[in-house]
Amino acid sequence: MSRVKRYLRDLAPHTMMKIAVAGKGGVGKTTLTALLSTLYRNEGRTVLAIDADSNPNLADILGVSTHIVPLTDQKELVEERTQSTLGGFGGIFKLNPRVDDIASKYAVEHQGIKVLVMGSVKVAESGCACPANVLVKNLLSHILLTEKDVVICDMEAGVEHLGRGTAKAVDAMVVVVEPGRRSVETANRIYRLARDLGIQNIFAVGNKVRNQEEKEFLEDMVDMEVLGTIMYDERIIESDMRGSLPQHDNLVSEIRVIKENLETQVKKSVPTKNSNEY
Ligand SMILES: Nc1ncnc2c1ncn2[C@@H]1O[C@H](COP(=O)(O)OP(=O)(O)O)[C@@H](O)[C@H]1O
Ligand SMILES: [Mg+2]
Repeated sequence: MSRVKRYLRDLAPHTMMKIAVAGKGGVGKTTLTALLSTLYRNEGRTVLAIDADSNPNLADILGVSTHIVPLTDQKELVEERTQSTLGGFGGIFKLNPRVDDIASKYAVEHQGIKVLVMGSVKVAESGCACPANVLVKNLLSHILLTEKDVVICDMEAGVEHLGRGTAKAVDAMVVVVEPGRRSVETANRIYRLARDLGIQNIFAVGNKVRNQEEKEFLEDMVDMEVLGTIMYDERIIESDMRGSLPQHDNLVSEIRVIKENLETQVKKSVPTKNSNEY
């Protein structure tokens, strides 16, 4: 970015945006995360896109050609930071590992978007708190609380990565939902969990919508305000198969509407503590 552009960007009043994208598998979370990241990048914003799915593919969609090893799979890092020895049973490890330098060291920058692949936080029924999970949760919390511009986090189905303190730093949770009962049920379940965690702004985005009837079905069935709708379009799948980002005009306009509605809603909401204060 040129100095002039950076100067203008810094001059322009913009609000920080920490967005968590959730929803049932296959609804379009990664697609939406990538498209929103691109839109913000195009505005000159500093974007950190986080892949917190156990099947990470956000970097692929964003065009990163190198293979990125998820942080949870980087044994040495996990061991070093949590002072654990992986594989040991009942081992003692640090619950507050150092994480402040990880984003800058491990995020891969591609076409102006920083991508960080976290790997999954596997939530066992037993309430597993293994070292990799602890590291990733602490890291996510640190990023949400300290990053100054745009952070968009592509999350696996729900809110398991977020703790109470972290939830407060999330400006909005966007739950992607497609026409269909299971996707709606998952979305409403995520809504309740996110609300109980203290996230104030929780919205839905309808995806893979083919007609007015489906759009209305979603608006009726989801417990959240719908920010906008993305139509079903074969070109999105074709781009996916090519490993590129879909860019057709309709889609770009749909994403722009979603982004603008999101910003309007967030501005309207009761101001919570600014994340800088944490
Ligand atoms: N609006 C859409 N129309 C057609 N296909 C879509 C649409 N949105 C997403 N897809 C396709 O659906 C599949 C799942 O999308 P993805 O973003 O990977 O979902 P998730 O991250 O929620 O699992 C991909 O093949 C993607 O290209
Ligand atoms: Mg995905």
